[in-house]
Amino acid sequence: MGIEFPHRHLLEIGPLSREDIRIVLETARNLKEVLRRPIPKVPTLRGKVVANLFFEPSTRTKLSFERAAKVLSAEVLNFSARGSSLEKGENLLDTVKNLKAMGPDLFVIRHPASGAPHFVARHIDVPVINAGDGFHEHPTQALLDLLTVWEKKGTLSGLKVAIIGDIRHSRVAHSDILAFRKMGAEVCVSGPGTLLPPEREALGARVCFRPEEAVEGADVVIALRVQKERHGRPLFPSFHEYARYFGLSREILSRAAEGALLMHPGPINWGIELAPELADFPGQVILEQVENGVAVRMALLLLLLKSSEGSA
Ligand code: CP
Repeated sequence: MGIEFPHRHLLEIGPLSREDIRIVLETARNLKEVLRRPIPKVPTLRGKVVANLFFEPSTRTKLSFERAAKVLSAEVLNFSARGSSLEKGENLLDTVKNLKAMGPDLFVIRHPASGAPHFVARHIDVPVINAGDGFHEHPTQALLDLLTVWEKKGTLSGLKVAIIGDIRHSRVAHSDILAFRKMGAEVCVSGPGTLLPPEREALGARVCFRPEEAVEGADVVIALRVQKERHGRPLFPSFHEYARYFGLSREILSRAAEGALLMHPGPINWGIELAPELADFPGQVILEQVENGVAVRMALLLLLLKSSEGSA
């Protein structure tokens, strides 16, 4: 493979240049052809071992990394915190040191603590992909969101993206804002004041207090789940009120640009952030995001494992 990808890890969006992102998206788009074959399997990563370390629940991210690795013929070690020796008091560093002794070539890590994948990358000599750390970042979600929009709209530059929901506690929001802005899109966020981060201006997104304002003329609307598990104390009166003022409906989406996309990283709480009537909204591409998640994760495994091979 002759593609230069000058990174050992994927921990966050910041270090990626526009060119790096373009390489990931083009590689993923090309790899989708493999997924559509009658037998979707290529020998590219035969002999490699990917360790999936999930210290938090996941459906899409965990299974799409597993699928991605297996399509590329890598072996997969799956670790879930529940049922592991963490329950007997083993710490993160000992856990990853012991897993490293089993010979993986790459760690995929999801952890409730922001910075946990960075900590592992500093202490263990194995490439690390951040599969979501606390409310810091979820870079592979942002890359699959970019791929979905790029495929549908043919461009990223100049688009208007609205992100509605729990911006403050959403690692997806943080990575999406950075990634879409890096690729030349304008981002507007909206949510209850208690769910907007104090550093929101630093991320470069415009803040709109009403979702109707954020959605006005938007090419892409991304709804986010309320991350209640990260709140610690009540931050809004009730889900009923949240749905009334910040839930997306057909009426609100009628303000978006013609042909606007409706996206959600999942899991969705229907009736809260999305009205059930949006299940068949014409621009809804939520399952295409999931399909693109497999392709983007294949691309990243390939790019990081091949570049670490080159530097060995
Ligand atoms: N989008 C996302 O991260 O979903 P999971 O939590 O199911 O992995």
